[in-house]
This record gives sequence, C-alpha cells and structure tokens, in this order.
Amino acid sequence: MGARYMLLRPAGYPLKSLFQEYPVVAEPRLFELYAREQWYGENVRPGSYLFDRRLYPDFAFKVVKVYPRFSVVGSETVIEVEKKTEPAKVEYNVRFDDVIGQETAKRKVKIVEKFLAEPEKFGRWAPRNVLFYGVSGTGKTMIAKALATEAGVPMLPVKATSLIGEFVGEGARQIHSLYEKAEQIAPCIIFIDELDAIALDRRYQDLRGDVSEIVNSLLTEMDGIQNREGVCTIAATNKIEFIDSSIRSRFEEEIEFKLPSLEERLQILEFNSRTLPQEMKDVNLHEIARATEGFSGRDLVEKVLKAALHHAIMDGCGISQGHLEEKVSKARKDYREPPKEMFS
Ligand SMILES: Nc1ncnc2c1ncn2[C@@H]1O[C@H](COP(=O)(O)OP(=O)(O)O)[C@@H](O)[C@H]1O
Ligand SMILES: [Mg+2]
Repeated sequence: MGARYMLLRPAGYPLKSLFQEYPVVAEPRLFELYAREQWYGENVRPGSYLFDRRLYPDFAFKVVKVYPRFSVVGSETVIEVEKKTEPAKVEYNVRFDDVIGQETAKRKVKIVEKFLAEPEKFGRWAPRNVLFYGVSGTGKTMIAKALATEAGVPMLPVKATSLIGEFVGEGARQIHSLYEKAEQIAPCIIFIDELDAIALDRRYQDLRGDVSEIVNSLLTEMDGIQNREGVCTIAATNKIEFIDSSIRSRFEEEIEFKLPSLEERLQILEFNSRTLPQEMKDVNLHEIARATEGFSGRDLVEKVLKAALHHAIMDGCGISQGHLEEKVSKARKDYREPPKEMFS
C-alpha cells in the first residue's frame, strides 16, 4: 500500500571522515519531491532507514513515523524531516533569598542582573562571560536560575557533555545555533554546565576527538565577533584547574563557590526541612549541622534529609534524630574521610 505520510529523522552516515558535512534540509517542499523520486517504491516501516543516493551519498534517514505502518513510498507520500529540537528556554522560581550563603556570588551577579534589565545602557561595557567554579552541590546552578528569575529573563541551559556529539562538527554547530537562538530572545542567559567536559586543557583535548572544534566555536561566540546584544554567558565547573587557559581568560569574572559554614549548614537544613512531607520528631538540627562539616548543600539535602525521609517512610514513623545521624554517618563512610569528632 502507498504510504500517505512519512516522518524522517536525519541519522547520519554509516562511516564518518573528518570532513563530512551533516546535511540540513534547506527547502522542505523541494526535499519532499527529491525524496519521493529517489525512494519511490521503497518499503518502509517505523524504524527502517533510507539512504540518500545523490547529494549526500549514504547519508541515512531513519523512518520515525509512517502511515500506514507498513507501506511503500509513492508519488503521493507526504514526507517531512524532523526539525532539530530547539534548545529549551526555561523559567524558574528560585530566588536569591533561597540560596543560603554565597554572598560574594550574589553580590557579583547583581551587575549581570542590572545589565539584563537594561542591556542598551551598557553597550561595549556589558558583562558577557562569567565563570562559576567550586565544589559540586554548592549552589552554582541555583544562583544561575535565581539570576534568571530575578532579572525576569529566560535562560538557555546546556550541559557541555551533551555537546560532544557523534558527528564531527555537530557540537560546534550546536554552539552556534544556541547563540543565534539566544540573540533572538535576548536579553537572556546562556548557562553552560560542566564546562570542563569541553574546555579541557589543550594537553587533554587531543584525547577527545572533536572537542577542540567545540572549544573554538565557543571561543568565537565568547569573543563576541558577532555582537550578540543582551546575551550573557555563565559557565560552571567543579574542576577549574582543568580549564584551558585560552578559555579561562575569556571570562571577565571568576566567582568561587565555597562549602557552607556551620551556620549556613544549619540554615540549609532548616530551610529544606520546612517542605518535608513527613513530620520531624525531637530533632536537633544544630547537632546535625555540627556533624556535617565538609558537606555541600546538595549533600545535606540529598544524602541527609532526603535519605532520612525515605528511611522514616519505610519505618512508618516521623523523622528522628537517629535517622538523620545514621544518614550522616553513611554519607561520611561512602564519600569522605572518617570524621574528626562526631556526635560527641
Ligand atoms: N547555598 C545553598 N543554599 C541552599 N541550597 C543549596 C545551596 N547549595 C546547594 N543547595 C542544594 O543543593 C542542590 C544542588 O545545588 P546546585 O546549585 O545544583 O549545585 P552546583 O550547581 O553547585 O553543583 C540545590 O538544588 C539545593 O537544594
Ligand atoms: Mg550544577
């Protein structure tokens, strides 16, 4: 039976060389004619592949959808190619006040907030690239989200690891389209998490295929060769010592995130306890704060509060001091050196 409709997804080449191009559909209606003609009479079903034989020999398209499910490409088949998914534009409800401590970071991102409110006022003096670094789980992502919320602008988040694609040049292209998209919706923030995954020191880049291409593309954007007005890039890393100096020098500001102090650990515990769905019975959070030196905010939330909550739910009772202490010990045993003084 002739297919009425077919949706294709570019799937790449069976083999790759360093100089291959990844084709992009320029004119959907022309592509449809071209596709019908070269695949006329092919049997298709969801999951099968069609290979281009002309402009990009052996470039594969995966059949994502086809109606009827087992049919033949004919002169009437409506053929579409999936559009690249746009980077998600996200809005949050985190506020600066929700972030405990990190006062330096909060103070320094204020200038970015002012810029996002009135980008035209800054012109060439705009803050463009800011680097957040420090221990994992200390509030880097939180501050970036809070900045977007407080400034009332969208944020485009990307994980650097997701840029390392299967195809050479894909990551570099993604960076380019990310910045193009940002320019359209400016003022906005681009948040690049896990920067170390791509911005490794040159000595390590050779180990990772097309990483240096991604880096070059990122450098071009960060340098603002094309002036993308109203776009601020914030990147985050836990491993600043691995970041290549060429990239590091592009950030006009480096902001360090530190582990919470005793007082801050107590506040993080108290703040997050308020939303626990299970009651806490006779707990002394001050004791827990004292016993958790070296824990990050995330450790306190995930490894202590959440783990204790789950345990309490299994026990069918409220969260007790015992539950909390047990999780603290477990977290220490799993990830850290033995405590100096605990629950003394
Ligand atoms: N300074 C902080 N104040 C309040 N909560 C924090 C703080 N730091 C971390 N947290 C908690 O840990 C979680 C993870 O923090 P996140 O911002 O993702 O850390 P990072 O990006 O530095 O790895 C947050 O969602 C929050 O629950
Ligand atoms: Mg993070």
